[in-house]
Amino acid sequence: MSFDRKIKIAPSILSADFANFGQEIRAIEDQGCDWVHVDVMDGHFVPNLTFGPAMCKAIRPHIRTVMDVHLMIAPVDPYIEAFAEAGADIITAHVEAGPHIHRTLQAIRATGKKAGLALNPGTPAEALAPVLDLVDLVCVMTVNPGFGGQKFIHSQIDKVRSLRSMIAGRPIHIEIDGGITPETAPLVTAAGADVLVAGSGVFSGGSVANPDVYGKNIAAIRAAAEAAAR
Ligand code: DX5
Ligand code: ZN
Repeated sequence: MSFDRKIKIAPSILSADFANFGQEIRAIEDQGCDWVHVDVMDGHFVPNLTFGPAMCKAIRPHIRTVMDVHLMIAPVDPYIEAFAEAGADIITAHVEAGPHIHRTLQAIRATGKKAGLALNPGTPAEALAPVLDLVDLVCVMTVNPGFGGQKFIHSQIDKVRSLRSMIAGRPIHIEIDGGITPETAPLVTAAGADVLVAGSGVFSGGSVANPDVYGKNIAAIRAAAEAAAR
């Protein structure tokens, strides 16, 4: 995976048809998405359950772009190897998931995968500073993690701006996760984000039988995001 700061749209399959991930992934990739965002939830770190490494491994052959795995699980360290083996390109862990985020990021790096650090809405930008040299992506949660379709939390925009200046010229992506629409996308790209996760914003109104809607949703978010990007 090479690094660039072009705007990337990463649909979250949390909003796809769970009985049909293969076709859903093909549809969003055919419709122009850049990455595929995979939300792993444990019913403990967040109040919802999704799936684990076996499902990630099963969907991996259907992904031609980038498999972006967001781990909302605690503890996280015992499962890193399994998600790496399942074929994740990027493995993102939450800073709030345990007392040893430095060790967690080292463990992700040791698998040869890109390492992401996710920050909940209540966690300050400064949490990134001590581990900056171990991070390939910082994921700013603009909803409280656990569910798709929630309202974007505007107070996070200042955090994106702080992270952008902290990161300066380093090759680190700023990903935004939660409540992304054509209305909210420009607010975060203007603040310095380059990767936009969108679940309901991409999947709502469409289906594998009607994938053009996915394409229109992706294009609308991308156009709004690019117009404001810096
Ligand atoms: C929330 C997940 C998100 C979610 C985003 O915990 O991490 O990736 O699917 O969904 P929307 O775009 O609907 O807010
Ligand atoms: Zn996510």
